[in-house]
Amino acid sequence: MAKNGNYISAKESREISRKNRKITSEIEKKRNRRHIPESEYVTKMRDENNCVEFDNVQTYFFTDIGTVKAVDGVSFDVPLGKTVGIVGESGCGKSVTSLSLMQLVQRPSGQTIGGEIRFNTGEKAINVAAAPADVMRSLRGNQMAMIFQEPMTSLNPVFRIGAQVDEVIALHNPAMSKEDVKARTMDMLSMVGIANKEGVYSMYPHELSGGMRQRIMIAMALSCDPRLIIADEPTTALDVTIQAQILDLLRNLKERIGSSIMLITHDLGVVAEMADYVVVMYAGRVVEQGSASEIFHDPRHPYTIGLMNSKPVVGKHVKRLYSIPGNVPNPVDMPDYCYFRDRCEMCVRECDGEYPGIFEVSPTHKVSCYRRG
Ligand SMILES: Nc1ncnc2c1ncn2[C@@H]1O[C@H](COP(=O)(O)OP(=O)(O)OP(=O)(O)O)[C@@H](O)[C@H]1O
Ligand SMILES: [Mg+2]
Repeated sequence: MAKNGNYISAKESREISRKNRKITSEIEKKRNRRHIPESEYVTKMRDENNCVEFDNVQTYFFTDIGTVKAVDGVSFDVPLGKTVGIVGESGCGKSVTSLSLMQLVQRPSGQTIGGEIRFNTGEKAINVAAAPADVMRSLRGNQMAMIFQEPMTSLNPVFRIGAQVDEVIALHNPAMSKEDVKARTMDMLSMVGIANKEGVYSMYPHELSGGMRQRIMIAMALSCDPRLIIADEPTTALDVTIQAQILDLLRNLKERIGSSIMLITHDLGVVAEMADYVVVMYAGRVVEQGSASEIFHDPRHPYTIGLMNSKPVVGKHVKRLYSIPGNVPNPVDMPDYCYFRDRCEMCVRECDGEYPGIFEVSPTHKVSCYRRG
């Protein structure tokens, strides 16, 4: 780690990358074993009514300038058939949390090195963090699907839309005939509200608008009726009217298929509209979680309070919207006290101590802060 500020000498950097290689190759070796016994990754849900349980998950990136603790001890549940909103400012680890669940973190530098991510398949509980690649392949798409932030980068520009959706359906249903696959694709296209589905079937991605591309992504993600939909900023690239339509669509689909949704966004309006539960992340940790009404009406963590004050409210006159002062600490060199302390305007004496533990405001509402509200 850098001794004097941000400067790292070539020698230090070499030393760090040597250590990193040792750590990551050991983890990779363990993962690439053949015939990993089920006992290593089949576990038990703490509560059968949960779809996913994150339990003290740690996902680190072993980079040449030091270890980035992108997700550091995150715990929260996604109940069956509910929507959980994950909010927090850029870089706080929202995407890495969801990628850890799919096991799509950039390897070998990125590794989930601690904790359990339990996924309820209905028959058994799989600890995704320890599951071998073939088990993950059968989960991805069939059981959990992800809608990515930027549809243009996720669709292949040189294939027609129809072929791309067909491919996903055929891959997950090898027994289906070609005609059935196409019929299913058509069903999916109309389900996501595409009027001209015959036309769109033979178009290329660049011929569609952003909103339509996002609909195609959603159609692909939902084509196998997943139990869990992970939507990472699904509406950030869209204008507000299309955004509202996409959110409506997600809500309807959730009711129809009964899936759980993990909704990642920094738009609090979207969260208020969609989420049953809210998880607030800050610098790789969960600082507060609770039901949507608890978080919106009774926020306890100064960071959540700041977030709530920084959103515009119709009919409320303010000279300037509130902005939280200061910056997120350097992820390579986290302090050993509360990560928010240096930006916090509500510090108390205890804040000089170590990182605060979890305080239960109610059975669903938890906060990591000495003030406790
Ligand atoms: N491949 C990588 N290598 C090294 N560090 C990474 C990598 N991917 C992400 N990180 C780091 O992990 C941390 C969390 O990133 P993440 O993408 O989860 O943020 P986020 O909350 O999704 O932000 P945003 O709202 O901008 O999408 C950041 O500090 C980021 O720099
Ligand atoms: Mg992100």
